[in-house]
Amino acid sequence: MCGIVGYIGSEKAAAPFLLDGLKRLEYRGYDSAGISLVNSSGHILTVKSIGKVVHLEQKCQSIQCSDMYAGIAHTRWATHGAPSENNAHPHLSGSGKFAVVHNGIIENYSELRKRLSMAGHKFVSDTDTEVIPHLIEEFYNGDFAAAVTGAVQQLSGTYGIAVLCADYPDMMITARHGSPIVIGLAGNANMVASDVTALVSYTRDVLYLNDDEMAIITPSHVEVRTINNVPVTREVSRISWDVSADGKGTFEHFMLKEIYEQPESVGNAIRGRIDLKAGNAKLSGLDLTPREMALINRIVVAACGSSFHAGLLGTYYFEDISGIPASVEQAAEFRYRNPIIEPNTLVLPISQSGETADTLAAVREAVNKGAIVAAICNVVGSTIARESGRGIYLHAGSEISVASTKAFTCQVAVLLMLALLLGRNRRMNHETGTELSQEIMRIPSLIQEVLKQAPTIEAIAKKHANAHDLFYIGRGCLYPAALEGALKLKEISYVHAEGYQAAELKHGPIALLDEHVPVVALCNDIPGKDKMLGNIQECRARQSPVIAVVTGDDDCCAPFTEDIIRVPASSRFVAPITTVVALQLFAYYFAKERGCEIDQPRNLAKSVTVE
Ligand code: F6R
Repeated sequence: MCGIVGYIGSEKAAAPFLLDGLKRLEYRGYDSAGISLVNSSGHILTVKSIGKVVHLEQKCQSIQCSDMYAGIAHTRWATHGAPSENNAHPHLSGSGKFAVVHNGIIENYSELRKRLSMAGHKFVSDTDTEVIPHLIEEFYNGDFAAAVTGAVQQLSGTYGIAVLCADYPDMMITARHGSPIVIGLAGNANMVASDVTALVSYTRDVLYLNDDEMAIITPSHVEVRTINNVPVTREVSRISWDVSADGKGTFEHFMLKEIYEQPESVGNAIRGRIDLKAGNAKLSGLDLTPREMALINRIVVAACGSSFHAGLLGTYYFEDISGIPASVEQAAEFRYRNPIIEPNTLVLPISQSGETADTLAAVREAVNKGAIVAAICNVVGSTIARESGRGIYLHAGSEISVASTKAFTCQVAVLLMLALLLGRNRRMNHETGTELSQEIMRIPSLIQEVLKQAPTIEAIAKKHANAHDLFYIGRGCLYPAALEGALKLKEISYVHAEGYQAAELKHGPIALLDEHVPVVALCNDIPGKDKMLGNIQECRARQSPVIAVVTGDDDCCAPFTEDIIRVPASSRFVAPITTVVALQLFAYYFAKERGCEIDQPRNLAKSVTVE
């Protein structure tokens, strides 16, 4: 989704930094980009373009940047108004004195626009953002910071903004409410970004802004205060993990690279967290005593997309392994339906980015209702991780491809360890704990086995790549895997795919089956397999081609299909992980065969920061 970068520092460095920062944010998904630079004589120059950052870069080649010390830039993912140069950020005030980039949605923009229009302001875009520079101008009486303060106090909705003022070429102001802003400190320069990925090759010392805070930034100084002018002392955080996009290496796409990284990323997620001797897990970020854990009487997971699917699987683990009633909710539904949360409810927000607006709203709702909130996030220092106060990081490394792969498998591994810990805290004995611990330790090598099947999976995917509709069916722990497999396929191939509980198929969806609608049947050797074989028969009776996932050299599906994907034998808890890795590969090769843009699928964003 939209990305912000800002720079204030040495001569000539502003434009190259901003363009590089935008490229580092490309993975988030966008449809237009723009940049504003201010020179020492108080002139703001703005360049915008539709499409990729490289188009913006080409347009910028003709501009004279030698006198530009400060600038702001943006990648826009259209919400209010189509992708166009007029709607691209930065947006300027009527006089051109202020330039603003904005992430989030201003909910009262039409009311503000009406008011400003009556006061003589002329608008040139369809965006909600454009009211911000006009509002700042309206409040301006020579004091830049006071004008920004006055303006943001009028906004409702969400914003992360960076602002330039032609009268203050050595100052940049940023503020946030609901959209992340991080400030990078690089000695002779200071920077702003909506995502630390844009900064990390320049500095590892950062300041995170909290909601309703702003920062007044010069090349040598950063002053943080609330938007009500109360001074704030903020500790510098050091980024110790590698968030840089290392490049694709020998892989054609980031998605394939990230699929292949899973033995290592899951290895990192479980490293040091399994105590084989005790048959238990150690999750220090959870920060709960055994007594506090024993008092948890319900678990509610709140998440979106792939993280929701991981959470659904987590509920199977918590009930089956830990013996704790658990449910999962799409985060926005959780937030808006006034959920019942008791003091001993553990709420688990799950988010790769840690910035998903709906999940963040759910965190705030849960904190407000007094729940114990523990986030499962990948991005260290993200808003959800910080506001939850406690949690478990994935250590999956940066995930660049829009379609989540390694974050999903790490989320599931973390949930399995959490279920083990809570189970051992209750009725699970040492022997069962040790068996499950050993099984968790095996996950990286089991994934490695699946990756060896890539040529077979590729051939099967190519054979079915003309299909327009697919069903994915699974039972028990494989039902969330069916949902995740279908989501992967639709995201990157734009082909309709639905995940279903295998038993539900005959309650309606079976009406859609015929020889043109393949069914991906998850028929691993776990409880429920016999019933699954019956469901496969039902599909074949409607002439649907079947693509079966089975365990090892199991022949159970040979009578129905030759398209068989084999995953190694494992417990029912680990089978969804190996199966999803196979389905990720299936989706990848299917989309590739159709010539789709895999890493940045149309309409999608990596981090969904609007509700
Ligand atoms: C699926 C995908 C999305 C995200 C969802 C939540 O491949 O990437 O469905 O899973 O937008 O994002 P996070 O986990 O960052 O909260």
